[in-house]
Amino acid sequence: MSQQHSTDVSATPTTTRESTDWWRDAVIYQVYPRSFADSDGDGTGDLEGIRRRLPYLRELGVDAVWLSPFYASPQADGGYDVADYRAVDPMYGTLLDADAVIRDAHALDLRIIVDLVPNHSSDQHEWFKRAVADGPGSALRDRYHFRPGKGTDGELPPNDWESIFGGPAWTRLPDGEWYLHLFAPEQPDLNWEHPAVADEFRSILRFWLDMGVDGFRIDVAHGLVKAEGLPDLGGHDQLKLLGNDVMPFFDQDGVHQIYRTWRRILDEYDGERIFVAEAWTPTVERTANYVRPDELHQAFNFQYLGAPWDAAELRKIIDTSLDAMRPVHAPATWVLSNHDVTRHATRYANPPGGTQIRTAGDRELGLRRARAATLLMLALPGSAYVYQGEELGLPDVTDLPDEVRQDPSFFRAQGQDGFRDGCRVPIPWTRTGSSYGFGDGGSWLPQPDTWGELSVEAQTGVSGSTLELYRSALALRRETAGLGAGESVTWHDGAPAGLLHFERPGFACTVNTTGAPVRIPAPGTALLASSPVEVTDGEIELPADCTVWWAA
Ligand code: NOJ
Repeated sequence: MSQQHSTDVSATPTTTRESTDWWRDAVIYQVYPRSFADSDGDGTGDLEGIRRRLPYLRELGVDAVWLSPFYASPQADGGYDVADYRAVDPMYGTLLDADAVIRDAHALDLRIIVDLVPNHSSDQHEWFKRAVADGPGSALRDRYHFRPGKGTDGELPPNDWESIFGGPAWTRLPDGEWYLHLFAPEQPDLNWEHPAVADEFRSILRFWLDMGVDGFRIDVAHGLVKAEGLPDLGGHDQLKLLGNDVMPFFDQDGVHQIYRTWRRILDEYDGERIFVAEAWTPTVERTANYVRPDELHQAFNFQYLGAPWDAAELRKIIDTSLDAMRPVHAPATWVLSNHDVTRHATRYANPPGGTQIRTAGDRELGLRRARAATLLMLALPGSAYVYQGEELGLPDVTDLPDEVRQDPSFFRAQGQDGFRDGCRVPIPWTRTGSSYGFGDGGSWLPQPDTWGELSVEAQTGVSGSTLELYRSALALRRETAGLGAGESVTWHDGAPAGLLHFERPGFACTVNTTGAPVRIPAPGTALLASSPVEVTDGEIELPADCTVWWAA
């Protein structure tokens, strides 16, 4: 007897999902507005482009959409430099367009989460412009971190902190004072000790809540509070986002009081609106502090994102993540790609080496592992994040010429780091045509020739395509008693080396992370697989780098 199971749904368990806390098991799709869909042919994506594609997201089967910033901004850092938190940048449209996106999404039963950038503003924000113009000693300078320099003439920065994008974290103005920017000089850090800053952000929250958004993704949620006196790092390693001790500018305990206040505001509103923290902390245990019951709802799991394609490592991080979230009763989250890291299809095509990879590697291997990694992620309890284009199996564009790059970290690190443009190339909708259906006027970053065959059009209805794999997986996850529900998995310890096998009620998942096929007894009826598989006489030969879902 032989059963063929490729990427098609072959059996559907009967239970339905009952969770009222929609966000606990939600699949949230990240849209990077500049690169999603361009409705007016200026080469840049926009809100109307997003609105028109909402039915695609509904059909894909996600629960919510997180929009990266679309606010008024000089775009020194892709919109994470906000000049006006209550205005839409003209390149993206108007507030009416934002309203239309929110309304249409709700009509399709999709929720909308917007980005909030409270750690820093743009240097073109009215406050900062006036602070600079008013000169040293002016009251508005207190809303940022202005300081005199060290050295005989104040020619040295006030402390030894470095910017995450490279170079000093301080810039000197012609009047002699320095200001702090943990990111680019165009992104001055706000001073969260100042009551006007706290007041302003409470008001911004209300503005967007009144617009009807379902939640906020909080940018640099771990950075708002700086240690008293802005102490030198001294012998400490300069910062990396992950894997450090608590730094004087990151993960300070004071941030939690801010989030408690915000939570009370959110809870005044109807519907289940949520906060998700971008909080790079040294450990998942410290991440759990952000999602205590009176604080935020979710925090990204960057330790999971950074894990290599290795069974033992993956199991370890899955366990530590679930263990860390259980005491605070928050859902674990899972993410493989976003707009800041090399896409997972390219990370897994290369030897393990961080999140900024500059080589294409072995594309076939990368895609095979990426598909397997996605099925593993979507089988875990908690909430999962999908970054636009990963459902098409897009690789990073690793050969962008330097002259088209826009990532500020590329330039500040003299081209040694900051390859984030590669995951931001506009996504392909059609096989052919101007910018592969992204828009009628080209695309702000050049798309590779291979984009047509990876397009939505080319993959729709094609059995075994990555897009259809995502659609099947999301449909199954939703229908199968909520694969995202619960707080634990049961591991099968007898799995051969390099394999993961875990069970959930009525369901099992097997992952082969090795580069060779492995024969095992079939633990149930195969539901879905990331590569074609065959079950013969109760056994399955699991292909290399493959995940299989089972009805058990
Ligand atoms: C995190 C955002 O995801 C990234 O794109 C940005 O550069 C930094 N925060 C600074 O806002």
